[in-house]
Amino acid sequence: MRTTYTGVPLSGLVAKDPVPFPLYLATAEHTWVLYRPAAAALDEGHLGRLHSEGVLQLFIRDCDRGAYFSRVEHALDQILLQRNMPLERRADVLQGVAVHMAEDLLRAVPDKATIQRAQRVMMATSGLMLREAQGFAAIRRVMAASSGLATHSLTVSFLAMGLARIVLAADASTLVIAGLAGLLHDVGKVGHEDLDHDPEHTTRGAEYLKGLGLPVPVVEAACSHHERWDGSGFPLGLRGSKIPEFGRIVGLVNTFDKVYSAQQPRVGVFDALRILAQAYRGCFDDRLAQGFVRLFR
Ligand SMILES: [Fe+2]
Ligand SMILES: [Fe+2]
Repeated sequence: MRTTYTGVPLSGLVAKDPVPFPLYLATAEHTWVLYRPAAAALDEGHLGRLHSEGVLQLFIRDCDRGAYFSRVEHALDQILLQRNMPLERRADVLQGVAVHMAEDLLRAVPDKATIQRAQRVMMATSGLMLREAQGFAAIRRVMAASSGLATHSLTVSFLAMGLARIVLAADASTLVIAGLAGLLHDVGKVGHEDLDHDPEHTTRGAEYLKGLGLPVPVVEAACSHHERWDGSGFPLGLRGSKIPEFGRIVGLVNTFDKVYSAQQPRVGVFDALRILAQAYRGCFDDRLAQGFVRLFR
C-alpha cells in the first residue's frame, strides 16, 4: 500500500523527548523526503533553520497520526498560548487534537481516565475562548459538518462552550462543564449504535455519568437535552425553566448541529439558524436562542 502523509505545524513537535516518529519534508508535489528519522531529537535550532528556509510545516505518515496527536495533546496548552502562531492555525491544531480525543472517548463507553483527558482538552479550549476575542470564531471556522458520534459530540461541545460564554458570562470552570456536557450528551448511545430510535440514550447516559461522579450539570444535560421549552420533548416532558440550564444549552446546539449537518446541498450557518427557528418554534429558551444568533455574528 502506498504511504500517505499529513502536514503538521512545527509547534508541538519540539519537546525534550525525541520525536517518536519520522518527519518528512515535501520537496515537490507528491514527493516527500525523510527529514528526521524516528527517535531523533528536534530542537529550536532545527526549527529556526526550517523557518529561515521558508518551511512552515513538516509531514508525518498517516499511520503515525495517533502518536502525533497524543504528543500535541500534551503540549496543547503551550501551543494555544503562542501568539506568534496565527489564531486559525492554533484553532486547527486544537480541532485535530480534539477530534482524535473525541474518537478515543466515544469508541466504547468511556472510563474516568479518558474523561479526565477530555477535561484537559476542554480546559485548553476554554483558555483560547476566554483569552482571544476571536477565539470562538476561529474554532467555529475549522469545525467541519459533523456526521459520526465523535465529531457531532465535539461540535456540540464547542458550541455549548461558546453559548455558555455568551449567555452565562461563564468563567473557565463553567466553560469546561459546558464542554463536557456537550461532549458526553449522547454517551448513552455508545454500544447501542444499531438502534434507529433510542430515546433511552438520555437516561442511560445520565445514569452512567452519575455513576462516574461527574458534575451534576453534565449529568443533567445528558438526561434533558431532548426536553423542549414547550413541554413536547422527552424523557420527562419538562417545560420551560424546569429543564436544567445545561440541558437547554446542549439541547439547542445539538438540534442546530443536526439541522446544519443534514442540509443537502450544504447551507451557511445563518440559513441553518433560520431553518432551526422555523422548524422548532417554541422549542427553545428565547434568551438562549438570541444568544446563539449573537454567537455567530
Ligand atoms: Fe441525543
Ligand atoms: Fe446529539
